[in-house]
Order: sequence, then structure tokens, then C-alpha cells
Amino acid sequence: MPAVTATDLCAFIDASPSPFHAVATAAARLDAAGFEGVDETDDWGGAGSAPARGYVVRDGSIVAWSGAAGPWRVAGAHTDSPNLRVRPRPDTGRAGARQLGIEPYGGVLLNSWLGRDLGLSGRVALRDGSLPLVLVDRPVLHIPQLAIHLDREIGSAGLQLNPQQHLTPLWGTGPVDRGGFTRFLADELGGSPADIVAWDVMIHDLTPSTVGGRDGELLAAPRIDNLCSAWAAIGALLDAGSGVVALWDHEEIGSETNRGAGSSLLGTVLERLTGGDRGSYQRALAGSVCASADMAHATHPNYAERHEPDHWIALGGGPVIKTNVNQRYATDARSAALFAAACERAGVAHQWYAHRADLPCGSTIGPVTAASLGIPVVDVGAPMLAMHSARELMATADVDPYRAALASFLRG
Ligand code: CO
Repeated sequence: MPAVTATDLCAFIDASPSPFHAVATAAARLDAAGFEGVDETDDWGGAGSAPARGYVVRDGSIVAWSGAAGPWRVAGAHTDSPNLRVRPRPDTGRAGARQLGIEPYGGVLLNSWLGRDLGLSGRVALRDGSLPLVLVDRPVLHIPQLAIHLDREIGSAGLQLNPQQHLTPLWGTGPVDRGGFTRFLADELGGSPADIVAWDVMIHDLTPSTVGGRDGELLAAPRIDNLCSAWAAIGALLDAGSGVVALWDHEEIGSETNRGAGSSLLGTVLERLTGGDRGSYQRALAGSVCASADMAHATHPNYAERHEPDHWIALGGGPVIKTNVNQRYATDARSAALFAAACERAGVAHQWYAHRADLPCGSTIGPVTAASLGIPVVDVGAPMLAMHSARELMATADVDPYRAALASFLRG
């Protein structure tokens, strides 16, 4: 039997194919626990009277808190994942195939999108100013791989994919149907094509998240990076009963947007929570600390030589503290010690990650949060394989300890 929490994680991921849906899924869980959603444009009721347990949504990002007074223990994660996004003039096609023009978002493992049943999700901007969500969990799109008989170099050169040429999904047959995508969206929303002005719509794999492996030890799913961390952070906030959780959009493209981790969102929310003068905000901030929760590279058994040999990471080995002396991860000795202590209090083992010195290291919201707020940040994550594939893999044994370690960190 899979752990209840692993199946709950699967449900969270499957309900959240776009950042907007991830935020809605998180908000629904907060609503059910009695949190009050407030709008950034509203008056929150004067000094110090923001809801004691509340949240704010800005597009594909959400900040939630329990216990308004600082200093704060913060857990951050991200709502976006690399994928394929629909262009503004998407109706295209060739040789009797109707296709949809797309643009890759973030660092996509392009091959992983081939040969899958694909749906659509996101939000649509209507003429009346509203932004309804759209979710098409039907296999409306498909990207067929080129037949091996027409790709004789694949054995020697490997699969070569050009993101402009080779990833355009098919969604029907016949001549190019100009306006077809707009009419499709109008049908989905139950409105008129004339109401539709623009969209943030993206493609997702329809294969449900699955607990598998011989004895249920493995969890295969899309968007484990980073909805596993988003799920764990929201759960940790509910378990801990105190702390702040920030789930950010746009991590995969560098965080420097209106709702990315480089934006004003978290700082302005925290300042409003203090409700008073800037001095008390700055004092509260000076005592605050953040755990940047993003998934970590488990050591791939088929490519163990790609990993730093004294920092192998085991699937099922517990949360990972990620270090990089060049601050691609924001961890330093002080922040690492705080997270290690939180793991210890939760009775959870932890692992230490360092990247090979001869490979460029990825980054996270950690350094961005550290720089924008000026607070210590520790970069942590649960181990996983196939990061940025349309289908990623982790161990079910890492699900509970990740949430427990973050809850312990939020309690302080
Ligand atoms: Co990530």
C-alpha cells in the first residue's frame, strides 16, 4: 500500500498542470484549513490587523502565513515547470496536419514530450478583464517522433531536436484553420471567440502520477520539480501552525518578473504583516530565515560518474542540503545548521549535495530570495531523477520526511 501522503502528493500534482492551477490547488487547501485569502489591492484593516492565517495570490505565485508577527521562518518553492506554451498566433500546419505553434518554456528535456497524450491548461484574458482558468484533461495534442527509417543518424548522433522545427504538436487533420484555437478556447469556456483577447496556455502530459516500483518505493509524475516542494511546504505550514510559505512562478526562467522570487511580493506582504512602521519590519526581517525548497539531484545509477563522488545522494535517503561555494545555492554554514537541526528535531536523516566542479551548477529561488530580502537562506530539496523531463521520478520514502523537515524548520 502506498503511503497516504504519496497519493496525496499525486493528487496535488495532477490537479496542477499550470502555475495558475498550482496556486488554486494550494489556495483550496488553505481555504479548507480556515486561512483567509486577501487581495493585495485591499486594505487589510489597518496596522497589525492582517488575518492571523491568510494568503495572497499574485498571478502564478502565492504567499501564505500563519501567525503574522515576525521574525519569520519562511519556506519557498516554485509553481512552474519547464513545458511547451502556446504562441499568440498558434494555428498552423503542413501536409494535411493541423498543428498548434508552441514555444518551449524554461530548460525543457525536449525528447520527453514525444509520443505522449497531451492536454492544455492555463488562463485566458477576456475582453471584460476577467482571467478564467482553462483545463483540458483530454488528449487533444500529440508530438509524434520521426520514424527510425527517416532518421538513420539516430544510432550514431543520438536524437537531434530543434525546438522551432520538431516540437510542433498535431491536433487534427485538414487545411490550416485560422482562428481555430480561439474558437476551441471559447467552446471550453462556454463563451464567444470575440471575447478572447489573449492567453497564457501551456501543454501537459495526461499520464496520471503513479506510485510504482516492485513494492511501491517509486513515484513517477510530471512536475515533481517543483510541485513536490510546493505540496510539502503547504503541508508543513498546516502541520506547523506557524510560518510563511511563498510559492513562486517563473523560477525556471530566472525569477526576475512581477511575481517571481526577485519581485517585491514577499517583502511587501511581510511588511504589511507587521502592520506598522518600517523600523519594526526591518527588525523583524533581520531575525528571519528562509528554506528554499527545490528538488535535488539523486545520484543516477546509470550515470554515477556525473556526480561528485563524495556527495552521492540516495533516493529514499531523506532531505538534501544543497551547497555551492559560488552561491548558485544560497546555503552557508549558518543556514545549513538551522536546517540540519530542524531535521534532527523531526527525527529525519539528511544528505549533503555538492555539484561536480567541472559541470555548471543549476540555481534556485534561494540566492534570489537571499539577495532581495537580505536574510540567510538554506537551499534544500528531496532527491529525484530525470529533473525537467515531462516524467520525473522520486522515492515514496522521501515524501513524508520532506514535509516533516520543513514543518520542523517553520516551527523554529
Ligand atoms: Co526546480
